[in-house]
Amino acid sequence: MAKFIPVDVFDLVIFGGAGDLAMRKLLPALYHRDRDCQLPADCRIISLGRSTIDRGEFLQRVGDSLRSRLAASEYSEEMWQAFSQRLQYIQTDALSPDQWQNLAKALQGHENRIRVFYLATAPRLFGPIARGLQQNNLVNEDVRIVLEKPLGTDYDSAREINDQVGQCFPENRIFRIDHYLGKETVQNLLALRFANSLFEPLWNRGNIDHVQITVAEDLGVGGRIEFYDQVGALRDMVQNHMMQLLCLTAMEPPSNRNHGAVRDEKMKVLRALRPIRSEDVKHFTVRGQYQAGAINGEAVPGYHDELGNQNSLTETFVALKLQIDNWRWSNVPFYLRSGKRLKKKYSEIVIQFQKVPHSIFPELTDAPGPNRLTLRLQPDEGVRLSLMSKEPGPGGFDLRPVSLDLSFEHAFGTGYPDAYERLLMEVIRGDPALFMRRDEVEFAWRWIDDIIDGWTKTGQQVEDYVAGTWGPTGASLLLDRDGRRWHSD
Ligand code: BG6
Repeated sequence: MAKFIPVDVFDLVIFGGAGDLAMRKLLPALYHRDRDCQLPADCRIISLGRSTIDRGEFLQRVGDSLRSRLAASEYSEEMWQAFSQRLQYIQTDALSPDQWQNLAKALQGHENRIRVFYLATAPRLFGPIARGLQQNNLVNEDVRIVLEKPLGTDYDSAREINDQVGQCFPENRIFRIDHYLGKETVQNLLALRFANSLFEPLWNRGNIDHVQITVAEDLGVGGRIEFYDQVGALRDMVQNHMMQLLCLTAMEPPSNRNHGAVRDEKMKVLRALRPIRSEDVKHFTVRGQYQAGAINGEAVPGYHDELGNQNSLTETFVALKLQIDNWRWSNVPFYLRSGKRLKKKYSEIVIQFQKVPHSIFPELTDAPGPNRLTLRLQPDEGVRLSLMSKEPGPGGFDLRPVSLDLSFEHAFGTGYPDAYERLLMEVIRGDPALFMRRDEVEFAWRWIDDIIDGWTKTGQQVEDYVAGTWGPTGASLLLDRDGRRWHSD
């Protein structure tokens, strides 16, 4: 595994610091980086929250949360004691002007260190918090502000947030998180495409039949249902994670790995995406909502039951067929799907190559199957190339698909840092390469808004699917109409 390079001394302030994301992702990520000696001795983590608890109670919650989440081999009481020394808790309501003084006091005397403000709050608070930081003179020379997703609910709200934050912080100090960009295998997509000469010459309409991107989850919406019901799968997963995967798969080779070059290439893909308007949504999009079913042998309730028997038109599954209008991808469809309560948790990008143009095996009823390159993002990260091979034997000539299979676990061992560990360290270093630029977020919203607008105008149906399956029938039909199938089918 690559070496951990210590970062410079910092104060990290988390708004929403006792909330779900802080407990589930941010504090465990910082604990891990501390355990690997990446955090300098006197850097501090200051959690701000509205709960009226004292530091003792806060530490109790964090400690309990770490113990319940980390494997026994990752947790030690001694390490926790050392890590907890860095943690402070300040009870604050960021919307109440007189409460900023508590934070100002905590930061006083530490003006010369890196200052990170992590906004793990509702997006409507991003603007007011940015303004509060500026008005209370808490923005120092070496500041960064981190914005958690979702960045708004549509193009207009995203623009407004970006404008408000942009009035207080320059773009190079704003870090918009999409945690998929911190995943090892997503990063590895760049290595696969641009550190190997093998694939790039084939990476185009001349050789590729179509691309499939799947991000499937077996979990339901759980405790986030109130939030989720306002959002749905298209906004929650496609606008950000899946669009980023799409861009990294489809973009032209950047001239270097600098943030500017990579983001410019991603933007070109977004600009070339063919809009899906009202008249097209029926043909190119599928919405679904899970019903009660079973996953891994256990009965699970439907979305409607989880919502307290209320009817809802929110989609927990979405499948799309999209086209990128440029020379490289002309007429190569990209099929995307994402959903909750599907058969299992897995994410992958499948590049399906074209069939051989002519078969020299007339005795076979089926022509040789197409080659397929599969990038498995999670779990069981790796790369698989499926090839046709002759089945061994003295008589006849039978072909069978076989795989060249690279498992990252076998090649590099286990225990890679979680995406948030990497992203937090990049924020502290001040490198925005793994974060979304303003124009990317806004353009992605614009493209998504067209679809939502189309759904509203046409009243597009939300199809039921049984939990524990691969989603509604419409998703299979989307490919079936083109003579194709989802890789898992
Ligand atoms: C989040 C979504 O951004 O990503 C969640 O809001 C989703 O709904 C999660 O469950 C999936 O992330 P991962 O890393 O588990 O694939």
